[in-house]
Amino acid sequence: MSERADKPVRITVDGETVEGLEGQSIAGVLLGSGRVSWRETAVAGKPRGLFCGIGVCFDCLVTVDGVPDVRACQRRACEGDEVSSQ
Ligand code: FES
Repeated sequence: MSERADKPVRITVDGETVEGLEGQSIAGVLLGSGRVSWRETAVAGKPRGLFCGIGVCFDCLVTVDGVPDVRACQRRACEGDEVSSQ
């Protein structure tokens, strides 16, 4: 039996350290940490998170290292990323 080659990756989400696996999307890391929503709609304040998972709907937007409107389902999580909800 071989050992898993997965390597951990640590990001911060709204200041909290969250661990995922190298190669996961930010959305994958967020879901793995138990989060199902991480932004609110501008007008109605409704919760949004992962919807399409393929970069089409823009429901999963987050700010990464100060850059707003990053699609969490399309951005690979990198060690030390600072993610904040929008
Ligand atoms: S979940 Fe639809 S663009 Fe990310």
